[in-house]
Amino acid sequence: MSARIITLTRHIIEEQRKHPYATGEFTDLMNDIAFAAKLISYHTNKAGLVGILGETENINVQGEIVKKLDVFANETMVNALDHGGHLAVMASEESEDIIPIPDKYPLGKYVCLFDPLDGSSNIDANVSVGTIFAIYHRSTPDGRPGTLEDCLQPGNNLVCAGYVVYGSSTMLVYTTGNGVHGFTLDHSYGEFLLSHPNITTPKKGKIYSVNESNFDYWDEGMQNYIQYVKQIDEKSGRPLKSRYIGSMVSDVHRNLLYGGVFLYPPSSLAPDGKLRLTYEANPMAFIIEQAGGKASNGKQRIVDIKPENLHQRVPLYIGSEKDVALIEDFLKGDKTL
Ligand code: AHG
Ligand code: MN
Ligand code: MN
Repeated sequence: MSARIITLTRHIIEEQRKHPYATGEFTDLMNDIAFAAKLISYHTNKAGLVGILGETENINVQGEIVKKLDVFANETMVNALDHGGHLAVMASEESEDIIPIPDKYPLGKYVCLFDPLDGSSNIDANVSVGTIFAIYHRSTPDGRPGTLEDCLQPGNNLVCAGYVVYGSSTMLVYTTGNGVHGFTLDHSYGEFLLSHPNITTPKKGKIYSVNESNFDYWDEGMQNYIQYVKQIDEKSGRPLKSRYIGSMVSDVHRNLLYGGVFLYPPSSLAPDGKLRLTYEANPMAFIIEQAGGKASNGKQRIVDIKPENLHQRVPLYIGSEKDVALIEDFLKGDKTL
């Protein structure tokens, strides 16, 4: 095998070796997530075949009932993660309450929270979607089923965070606090191969990503910032380019590579914004910070916020460090037009 080929499994094993007390449990957990990602990738790719090959919206070629992709993605994650003995509990954007580990399976020391399919409204238009995951050590003592408390940890406690983007290729990006690494799924090998080692994001970006139709619902600081980025000023690189897919994973992934900011501010319609602290903001914040970027709720680091409930929403400003810092200044009123 070419020495240049590094599989996701090899990468995780080599990372884990740096930890003196590593048991291999984390490596197994990541392999379970990677397997789920391969299944979700396969099925999102097939979504366009509905109506041909004898498939209908509800029945597939085998005559089985086809579930909606977000439900399928959720079940795939749960089924991949419930039996390995690595988790004490899990939680999903698609489930109201925490998801306990079934009695018949052993308990582990980790906790996994996930958004099984992010951007799912885009699926029918063949636009990129993603899966986001966050892994913590359990905070309650070993030996008993995990609890809500285990799931309500601040992002500062993250052991690992990652996302999978199902785009023109399928890519898994993860960090354990030692840099951000990207792997592209090679369909012929069925393996994620290291394609983007040590990703860093530019300190200043050229892109802003926001749903600007909410402009009139925003507060003045946010409106001023958006007007500012659209002004012509060659010296400071304005106007910025506007790019908004409506799949946070894909928007943040593009901005991570090219430099830019993704914003989901509060509005008079949604006073805490739209995105979830636990499943979306925290894992993406950990990744972006590891890549040299910044993630804020406008006042403080996202990862410093202690979640109070599972589905809590949070305003999110995430991306290139200088741009996010400038947004904070506009929001505080320290900078105006
Ligand atoms: P999900 O599909 O998991 O519910 O998340 C959708 C989110 C996020 O991915 C995206 O950035 C945002 O919703 C788009 O919201 P708007 O349509 O309000 O712009
Ligand atoms: Mn989402
Ligand atoms: Mn979702």
